[in-house]
Amino acid sequence: MRIFLDTANIEEIKKGLKLGVVSGVTTNPTLVAKEGISDYKSVVQQICALLPEGDVSAEITAEDPAEMLKQAREIAKWAPNVVVKIPATTEGLEIISKLSKEGVRFNMTLCFSVNQALLGALAGAAFVSPFVGRLDDAGHDGMMLINDIVNIYKEYGFETRVIAASIRHPLHCTQAAQTGASIATVPYKVLMQMMNHPLTDSGVARFMADWKSVQK
Ligand code: E4P
Repeated sequence: MRIFLDTANIEEIKKGLKLGVVSGVTTNPTLVAKEGISDYKSVVQQICALLPEGDVSAEITAEDPAEMLKQAREIAKWAPNVVVKIPATTEGLEIISKLSKEGVRFNMTLCFSVNQALLGALAGAAFVSPFVGRLDDAGHDGMMLINDIVNIYKEYGFETRVIAASIRHPLHCTQAAQTGASIATVPYKVLMQMMNHPLTDSGVARFMADWKSVQK
């Protein structure tokens, strides 16, 4: 399973990349707004340049279908490694079908059902993003959705990659890996939590204390 960072914060991306385990970034309008970004294109291009071999999802912000189509085409030209993120709506599906034939790579986002994921794959989406945490919040089993989609894609040989999204804690990452998700997109805080363990910290402290006790 690959790890993407779910953020529009350049410093977090730089810090995450230093670890050598991050191979993509996902953003959304909320994350962009949180950073107070006004020049959307320039920030997305900056992120794309930070990981030229990675996949960087930039979400469309237009609401009118004709504008959505136009913006999807524009975003696709921002960088060679940009992925156009588009909601799992009928309008979004039509655009995925149309532009994926022209070579545009899509990440179908806000996916909450197997049927949406099935249609996204049939339309040619490169990635689909089921939102685990938001389903859990609503009293459903978000990870079960990831599991079902992974199995169905495997059964029918779809090449669409499953991105476990709306990840809230390290256990979600473990479970996403166990279900066979291709990618988990995680907030920077969760990436840090994935590596931290109190027994590692206390073990290091003990080793160092013992080592120093015999040094002259
Ligand atoms: C995924 O691509 C989304 O940006 C993200 O995971 C949404 O997470 P949230 O439910 O914590 O907002």
